[in-house]
Amino acid sequence: MSDSTAQSMAERRDRSHQDLRRKTIAHMLGKTTDLSDGPRRIDPAIYADPERAQAERRELFLKRPILAGFSLDVPNPGDKLLFDVLGPAILIVRNKEGVLNAFLNMCAHRAARLVTECDARTRMTCKFHGWTFDLDGKLIGQPGKEGFEGIEREQLGLIPVPVAEWHGMIFVRGTPGGDPIDVADWLGPMGDELAHLELGKARPIKSSVVHTGANWKYAFDTYGESYHFATLHPSTIGSLAFSNTMSYSPQGLHVRIGFPRADFIEYGSQPEETWPKSDYGGLYMLFPNVSINVNTLPGGGMFYGVSRVFPGETPQECVTLMATYRPAHATEDRPDQDWADIHDFVERVVTTEDYSVSAEGQRNLAWAPEGFRMVFGANEAVLQKQHAQMEAILASSNEG
Ligand code: FES
Ligand SMILES: [Fe+2]
Repeated sequence: MSDSTAQSMAERRDRSHQDLRRKTIAHMLGKTTDLSDGPRRIDPAIYADPERAQAERRELFLKRPILAGFSLDVPNPGDKLLFDVLGPAILIVRNKEGVLNAFLNMCAHRAARLVTECDARTRMTCKFHGWTFDLDGKLIGQPGKEGFEGIEREQLGLIPVPVAEWHGMIFVRGTPGGDPIDVADWLGPMGDELAHLELGKARPIKSSVVHTGANWKYAFDTYGESYHFATLHPSTIGSLAFSNTMSYSPQGLHVRIGFPRADFIEYGSQPEETWPKSDYGGLYMLFPNVSINVNTLPGGGMFYGVSRVFPGETPQECVTLMATYRPAHATEDRPDQDWADIHDFVERVVTTEDYSVSAEGQRNLAWAPEGFRMVFGANEAVLQKQHAQMEAILASSNEG
């Protein structure tokens, strides 16, 4: 990237972050929040019904592009990424030319899991009978090959699934075949906003896998509203950000959210020209299951905190992949450990506060009387949007 392009990326990022902060400060000062046109009742069956869970996995997670990681998770030829949470086990590899391939992580012989540990080797050998594949999925080694005469080697390659790398983001589709993934089309107006985060230069610092006894939507719903900050997080998030006030802008299926941070109060009522440079980008929520928190460590240094929530084995379980990245422009003289610390803090809050409430609520739903309905308030507008989109997609798949 040329210097001028890099500069314009930084300028666009600054402008976007400044615009978001201005909106959240207006809400903070006015004690207001963005609202939908009214509350919505929610049938709790959407969190527990096995048929519904199956339809969601098929329509939302396997037919559509899903964020599998970022470019620096697999920077070099031979690097591999195991992406196991969609249902089918998916193997992402960077080939010798630097291009990403994705395959079912399944040997062409008798379907054993091919790669079990990530390394940087340029060949992948199955532990069952030793078949070996190159980084493009071609079978290049077959012990006892006389036993397989009559079948062309070309027919014994790995099974590809669509993968696309776009501005540092890696998307896959868990179903083999079909059209290539058009990331720009999938992201729509959110694309520009994500491009200027320069995710391609964001370094992975720490990641965790969190298993929770709640439906994936119940867990993911906790990311999209600040109504609970003061009550559920009094000594953590609730002391860092204002409760029940947010700005959100729908961007196609996706949405950008801003929650006013507690420190904005120090200068929010002053003229905008006197504000410090913005170090807050808000939440970038990618449909159906991604939240990218663009925020700053206490004392300075931007971090990207990524949470992706996936359905578990049953409708009452989910898996969250949490990861923290250090953007290239976070050049402060601070050790990576500070980014690892913020990762641990967020993970602790999410698991002990948000997800423990989610799991308790999920258990209650099993005993809720016939006809019970939950409610999303007008102040939980993002949840309403998210759920309405899912309903529309599932309804159109039933018609089709
Ligand atoms: S299953 Fe992989 S070599 Fe047999
Ligand atoms: Fe929360």
